[in-house]
Amino acid sequence: MTVTIVGSQLGDEGKGALVDLWGGDADVVARYQGGDNAGHTVVEDGDEYKLSLVPSGAVRDKIGVLGNGCVVNPKTLFEEIDDLRDRGLEPDVRVARRAHVIMPYHRVLDGIEEEAKSDSDLDAGTTGRGIGPTYEDKAGRRGIRVGDLLDPEVLRDRLEYVVPQKRALAEDVFGVDAGDAFDVDAVFEEYRAIGERFADESMTVNAGEFLGSRVDDGESVLFEGAQGTSIDIDHGIYPYVTSSNPTAGGAATGTGVGPTVVGRGEVVGIVKAYLSRVGTGPLPTELTGDDEELADYIREKGGEFGTVTGRPRRIGWLDVPMLRHAARANGFTGLAVNHIDVLAGLDEVQVGHSYDLDGEELFTMPATTERWGRCEPNLREFEPWPEVDWSAVADEGYGAIPDAAQAYLDYLAEEVGAPVYAVGVGPDRAQTIELTNPFQA
Ligand code: IMP
Repeated sequence: MTVTIVGSQLGDEGKGALVDLWGGDADVVARYQGGDNAGHTVVEDGDEYKLSLVPSGAVRDKIGVLGNGCVVNPKTLFEEIDDLRDRGLEPDVRVARRAHVIMPYHRVLDGIEEEAKSDSDLDAGTTGRGIGPTYEDKAGRRGIRVGDLLDPEVLRDRLEYVVPQKRALAEDVFGVDAGDAFDVDAVFEEYRAIGERFADESMTVNAGEFLGSRVDDGESVLFEGAQGTSIDIDHGIYPYVTSSNPTAGGAATGTGVGPTVVGRGEVVGIVKAYLSRVGTGPLPTELTGDDEELADYIREKGGEFGTVTGRPRRIGWLDVPMLRHAARANGFTGLAVNHIDVLAGLDEVQVGHSYDLDGEELFTMPATTERWGRCEPNLREFEPWPEVDWSAVADEGYGAIPDAAQAYLDYLAEEVGAPVYAVGVGPDRAQTIELTNPFQA
């Protein structure tokens, strides 16, 4: 069976903790989209692992797969693998031969294009990892795939076609000096060697066959979504989005198993009990102005600084129309709600229950970001819950969660139409209270 873990908001919902928890019951953990723009922190016995490309399950000795829907920066991948090996782990990571490779020129172009867009406020606040330019080349049929790195002749041909175009783009369109990142020979030598390492370590696979045969044999596969529904290229707040499909459909297209396989399994939406956002663009429930101090408090307490970039995240109240949108787009069968401990001890707890737009009450997100930006949230107030010893609560289980926080969770489940499977009351794996294990649901 399969379990798909999806971010239901803007990324950074704390998916890593759940992937790590339930990954223990899976035979394989597979990522289906994104690249090293993701940042997952896994804490085990006080040891912290910050991963951006290696699937978090690798910390638990699971086979980790990067599916064809991912964009892979091999340098980051090898750095993370080497680092985990230095720390005594032996991560088993397989990479789809159909996955696209983030090349040095993609990272440079990401920065150049963001800079150019910033004049008209259209910059997405990207992580600068070359994600967008790599997906552009994939769709433009000029990308380099992992399988191409294994064949020097193919690699050379592809580079000779694409690199001069990228150089011209950098120099003639953006007026930037192109360096080694745009030099065919330099890139060829470096990436041929990377292909050799992939081959030497037998890391590449036909992901669909690899995963499909395991599912057929009755093994359990956990699909690990990165980012979140509202920064999905199709269902998110375009253009302030990432360039892939974090939504559950991506688990099928991004790995090569059928949508019926994904649909027969569980799809768990990960929710942060409030909103955080690293990128630019509107955010109707954002805490600004008089609420700045409250935002600072939540940011500090929740450690709301980008895992990949270290940028301080913007903070807002929970946006419930965003969650209703996510529940439909993903077909959630369950929810995991994180960070309820961060909201403990506040004088007030509110959520954006619906929006007001041009005199109309909306219960889900409008399809254009301009209209979303004009939405005024209708806030609903909840009884705040006290600060308690969350480790003790984690030990005792769900019943020990303060009543007011339980009422908040009940409201969420009711509005989203899916039961709460787990509640995060702290960053450590032991601080996730499990009500239902989706592999046994
Ligand atoms: P990109 O994915 O680097 O192209 O960035 C595009 C948008 O997605 C920006 O607003 C980023 O801040 C956002 N983004 C990308 N990855 C993550 C993530 O893992 N968590 C939260 N936001 C992300």
